[in-house]
Amino acid sequence: MIAQPEFHDRMLSLGLARVAEQAAIASAEWIGRGNEKAADQAAVNAMREQLNQLEIAGTVVIGEGERDEAPMLYIGEEVGTGNGPGVDIALDPLEGTTLTAKDMPNALTVIAMGPKGTMLHAPDVYMDKLAIGPGYEKDVVTMDMPPATRISAMANAKGCAPKDITVCVLERPRHDAMVAEIRSTGASIRLITDGDVAGVMHCAEPSTGIDMYMGSGGAPEGVLAAAALKCMGGQMWGRLTFRNDDERGRAAKAGITDLDRVYARDDMCTSDVIFAATGVTGGTLLPGIQREPGWVTCETLLMRSKTGSVRRMSYRNPVS
Ligand code: FBP
Repeated sequence: MIAQPEFHDRMLSLGLARVAEQAAIASAEWIGRGNEKAADQAAVNAMREQLNQLEIAGTVVIGEGERDEAPMLYIGEEVGTGNGPGVDIALDPLEGTTLTAKDMPNALTVIAMGPKGTMLHAPDVYMDKLAIGPGYEKDVVTMDMPPATRISAMANAKGCAPKDITVCVLERPRHDAMVAEIRSTGASIRLITDGDVAGVMHCAEPSTGIDMYMGSGGAPEGVLAAAALKCMGGQMWGRLTFRNDDERGRAAKAGITDLDRVYARDDMCTSDVIFAATGVTGGTLLPGIQREPGWVTCETLLMRSKTGSVRRMSYRNPVS
């Protein structure tokens, strides 16, 4: 049997940062221009081009959609030169297409990589998510607790009153009842209009003041958020939700049989993972792309779960 090259996360991480950087620079042309599709396409093209230069035999497990609906970076697409280690890749070339089109904060390009067969193949359905930052006992809050119980459990664990807890929630009508229940505890809520990968990551970044994330958003984004938290520290859980048989069919196609399963962070990313995100529009996690005559500058968060290392890398490049 021919030995397979190992997943050298340290060696691959810089390449991953380049992928995120180039996608961000490409989509930045579309900041504030009201065109979500063009912004996304620019990021997809750049991300794919960069990925194909990496010495990996990569498979996109979280991507732009099923093969018949996404011509590039579709689920199952093979990327890289094919000469390196077999890896799973989860990506969202532009997380926050609307944020970019409207020039609102926290649009990011996001990509994670792990050894082959280690990332959940989440179907394109919603996922109910719950996340907290590092430093708390295991399962201090759970998916089965109602929102108000989660807040009192969190306040007890933190040694504060419920009013001192801040929860990040995606602003959607489907969350109205949850928001009302959170408010009844006295906790405060940071509502975001889009971008729940960043929303979950906020829990692990003390400067944001956010203690907990809850609510439903895209399942693919859930896997990316789990990869980020695995590097930053913090706990996260997700349960897929289905609105119809078509969505249940998507789960079956992805090999998921237990539709009620609660996935903990490490069920979504079962081994070492590397994660890179570059700011497109400036926000609480990363500054946005800066353009000045002749130059473009961006900042990337590059993290490895094996070491828990978190790097912030500024990249400046001449542009014509
Ligand atoms: P896009 O960048 O693909 O538009 O996704 C943004 C996003 O806000 C995600 O962060 C989130 O998981 C999802 O959309 C929520 O979906 P919906 O807008 O249907 O509630």
